[in-house]
Amino acid sequence: MRILFVASEGLPFSKTGGLADVLEALPKALVGQGHDVAVVLPRYRNTQIKNIVIKSLTVPMGTSLRFPAIGVAAPPGGVQYFFVDDPQYFDREELYGVGGRDYPDNAERFAEVARAAIELAKQLWLPDVIHCHDWQSVLVPVLLRTAYTPDPQLSAIPVIFTIHNMGYHGLFPRDVLARIGLPDSLFRVDGLEFFGHVNYLKGGLIFSDYLTTVSRKYAEEIQTTEYGHGLDGVVRTRADHLVGILNGVDYSVWNPEVDSLIAARYSAKDLSGKQACKRDLLAEFQLPEENLERPLIGIVSRFADQKGFDLLAQMADELMQEDLAIVALGSGEAKHERMFRELSQQFPERLAVKIAYDNTLAHKIEAGADVFLMPSRYEPCGLNQIYSLRYGTVPVVRATGGLDDTIEPFDPASGRGTGFKFSEYTGPALLAALQEALAAYDDKTAWRRLQANGMAKDFSWNASALEYGRLYDAARKGRIRTAAVSSK
Ligand code: ADP
Ligand code: GLC
Repeated sequence: MRILFVASEGLPFSKTGGLADVLEALPKALVGQGHDVAVVLPRYRNTQIKNIVIKSLTVPMGTSLRFPAIGVAAPPGGVQYFFVDDPQYFDREELYGVGGRDYPDNAERFAEVARAAIELAKQLWLPDVIHCHDWQSVLVPVLLRTAYTPDPQLSAIPVIFTIHNMGYHGLFPRDVLARIGLPDSLFRVDGLEFFGHVNYLKGGLIFSDYLTTVSRKYAEEIQTTEYGHGLDGVVRTRADHLVGILNGVDYSVWNPEVDSLIAARYSAKDLSGKQACKRDLLAEFQLPEENLERPLIGIVSRFADQKGFDLLAQMADELMQEDLAIVALGSGEAKHERMFRELSQQFPERLAVKIAYDNTLAHKIEAGADVFLMPSRYEPCGLNQIYSLRYGTVPVVRATGGLDDTIEPFDPASGRGTGFKFSEYTGPALLAALQEALAAYDDKTAWRRLQANGMAKDFSWNASALEYGRLYDAARKGRIRTAAVSSK
């Protein structure tokens, strides 16, 4: 089958979060299963392309036209990459905005990518299925099911839309419709209208053939007011076309047996290298060596409200009375960065933070920490806790979304389980789960068991890629049926 992915970021070209990991690994896994896969991404400032295949594509933008070039690259793995190359839109410092502010023309930027992807599909790489990701890509289904319906080729192609995060809507004023060349008639409750604004994500939910999200639990949660971000009603109307498919992990990248970014390699059979990684990690964060004896808690995260670090701030005094040390790597909202900086000043010997985006350090934390903390308010899937399992780093997580689906609570009596979870979104619940982890850490046999249980887990992409394959099939059949009904 020929599958065309459309997204706003993807490794090895661009990344701000887990979406980019998925956009690298899932296409590769699908190619491994015999499919042809191409990915459309914007060409950002640091994206290296091989050559240009279309010098100038004509893309309408409101009443004017834009002329992006289409570049290509083909990194190892057999996936074809197409890049929408429009320097005025994408040759910028960051992907989505600077200084905590979104770029004011994001609606236009990602409308261009979607329109270019559709024309590219038509002119150069006709797929059997289009797979879109997050709000940035939703103009693909919106246009295919409106302006492009008379096109016999494109209207036959089903669109799968994956929600990686319900918290990001792509919300714009009403006049954006005219600016991107969509009819005002789409400004309706069963269209893109959302409390007086235009909501891109909503368009994806309504106009796609199938919806998926990145864990089963999150597929249930987004149908509730607590987790629906105002769109749970819309999601409920599509519940029979919504599937939760858990993200996988690329174990050629996230695996202590082969990871060249960490101080020493190790495996479930021989964990001795992990101590060298811990020593190296403490040195990276300039924390005293005496912390080698303490359980070391690691954090790697975007600093956003989603990630739950307000709970950490709430409980910091109680938490730091425990015999532990913390290293945190992240960047994002100023208030969270400030909170971590203040804590590191308050506890300079045992808590250190690096405000940065640093892939090598992320690997070093996975390897060198004893415990990995993800207290998320919500978490569609979460990748770091799954990486942690393979590194023998025990996750402490809030039982939400993918965190709940991937981590099994440890039961000291039976020796089963891979980590520690708490349910209530409160500081004391977080503290209690961490204290449970610390108690287990003190019992060397229990801890080894926990590490071994986690390291034995297999979250590789194969099973999930097969599930996507089945869904693509179902969507193709569904579209053929729809076409037959509508032509009667
Ligand atoms: P999200 O997509 O919500 O940020 P995920 O857990 O799915 O959460 O994925 C986050 C990805 O981004 C992981 O690969 C993680 O290692 C990486 N990451 C997040 N913050 C940083 C950072 N500050 N430096 C390096 N990598 C980071
Ligand atoms: C989102 C979610 C995260 C998920 C990632 C990849 O950014 O916040 O939970 O793992 O997308 O699907």
